[in-house]
Amino acid sequence: MVCMDRGWLPLAATALAGSAACVCAVYHFKKKASKNRPPSPPPYNWLLSLSNYAHAPFFIMPDMHRYATEWANKLGGVYVMYIQGPFYVVTDAMLVYQVISRGDLGMPKHQELYRMTDWILSHRSPQLFSTADESGDMFRAFRKGLAPCFSTENLKKSFPKVRACAEKMVSMWEKMYLATEEPVLTDSWMNRATLDIIGQVGFNYEFKALDFEHNTFIEAMHENLIELSTSMGENPFDRLFPFTSQARQSAARRRRTKELFNAVYEAVKSRGEPPADDQSIGANLMRIKNPSTGQPFPEEIVLANLTIMLIAGYDTTAATCMWALYDIARHPDVQKRIAQELAEAGLLQVPGQAQARQLEWADLAAFPYFNAVLKESMRLHTAAAVGTFRQCQKDVMLGGWHIPKGSTVWIPLHSVHNSIHNFTAPEVFDPERWLGGGPTGSKPTPAASNTVHLHAAATAAGPPVEENTTASGPTKPFATPHSQASVPPNKAMLPFSDGSRSCIGMNLAYVDVRTILLSILSKFWLELDPSVGSHAKVEAAQVIALVLSSGIPIKLRLKGHGS
Ligand code: HEM
Repeated sequence: MVCMDRGWLPLAATALAGSAACVCAVYHFKKKASKNRPPSPPPYNWLLSLSNYAHAPFFIMPDMHRYATEWANKLGGVYVMYIQGPFYVVTDAMLVYQVISRGDLGMPKHQELYRMTDWILSHRSPQLFSTADESGDMFRAFRKGLAPCFSTENLKKSFPKVRACAEKMVSMWEKMYLATEEPVLTDSWMNRATLDIIGQVGFNYEFKALDFEHNTFIEAMHENLIELSTSMGENPFDRLFPFTSQARQSAARRRRTKELFNAVYEAVKSRGEPPADDQSIGANLMRIKNPSTGQPFPEEIVLANLTIMLIAGYDTTAATCMWALYDIARHPDVQKRIAQELAEAGLLQVPGQAQARQLEWADLAAFPYFNAVLKESMRLHTAAAVGTFRQCQKDVMLGGWHIPKGSTVWIPLHSVHNSIHNFTAPEVFDPERWLGGGPTGSKPTPAASNTVHLHAAATAAGPPVEENTTASGPTKPFATPHSQASVPPNKAMLPFSDGSRSCIGMNLAYVDVRTILLSILSKFWLELDPSVGSHAKVEAAQVIALVLSSGIPIKLRLKGHGS
């Protein structure tokens, strides 16, 4: 009986041998194919390692930015992940600069990946952020048509509105928190302030977000962004099973946000032809014509662009403010030095003394130490952590590695700013690295000027805007052996990316962030609430969109009380 039962054994042995041969063939094939490929991190599991999805589960993890940085530190400035085919991850700053610039190795934005962001807007039309075709009518018309909104002249004109929002928030804090000693939930406040600012400056629209503790739009958008970064766009299961509670909640959230986008659009449209001196985003959106036809673009395209400007206009700005407040609050010595700078300029409010003077436009560029602190915070806690995805248009050699035509190239900006081949001791918060010093033991490169290159920083009356191309740089030589030496090495700080697809709103973002932070710091001494816990705990709670589910509570004291 037993012997007869073993009749299946030869069959099983053949199947096993066949599978082993397949595994060997796949392994051999992959090894051969990867001859010219950069190193790869360990796969998620052995089964996936046989496929083109070896790292896909990592990619949708909330803390993907940490993996990407860890792997960059271990594998170097170029490595390859298999997500849905190869994704070449580039973090060596010199190579990054070549990929995002217009030069020979410059690559356009990724066609398909960016289309996913159209889903989040609920207006599935292309918009500035997702348009890959840089030579197309739509991209050129919107990029050019919106540029005047971010000119120094227009921002200077808008500054009083930005300042009024910041002052309103600060006076609310004075009334609400100083008496009760309750901590301030910074993420909620920063989102509400920046939404009010983009509403007023960008669209002459009153969101009144500062007036209410809860804002359903901000809350829904926050969830949408987390969903976007953790499921690479629309969750496919939600499409297949639209009646599950998750799918219904996701759809309801998008309906809520869409209602608000529509309301802003209707308000802008109802004003009719904007006056010539109105250079707000809303006014310029209404003016943009298709250069080929001389006609306005279809309404859904204007609406999709309004939507992306609105979202991009508050979320990353709020995250940048929140992290700067956190970094300043956890470093009392840094906070004292900023207070000194503000006191010397007559901006520090001291109880019992005359009212400090009001913040002025020229102040935004006037404080070298404060601006170095902000820059260091933006490096350590890069708001656009995911960075940018590019598509390789031809076979190229990048850092000595072959990148085939059609490949996806991923530039995770958080990793660019936090990997050891770009910065000495990247985990250390040290504003001195932007002022000519650097973390203990660092070796400044001869090429790195290590100064804060603010536009007109020396002339206080100058515009407080910063140019990507003048970002100062690393305190350590680049490590990828094949980096091309012809590119200037002071390009490692890229919070707004660079090149033709860099952030269009950068100058407005700097005005917002500096105004908000200076308004707060001239009034309050900040202290982290004990509930925040250790820095390690805070870092562990970040998700790739660099938001924290619970925010960062900070206690306030009026300047002069123990500071
Ligand atoms: C601190 C705040 C901000 C940060 C850190 C930030 C960062 C970025 C980054 C890294 C990109 C991607 C560039 C690339 O793909 O190479 C980007 C694109 C963009 N940003 Fe910002 N941004 C901020 C604020 C703003 C503001 C205030 C606006 C508008 C009001 C804005 C509008 C846009 C748009 C429309 C794009 C797409 C540009 C294109 O693809 O041509 N951003 N931003």
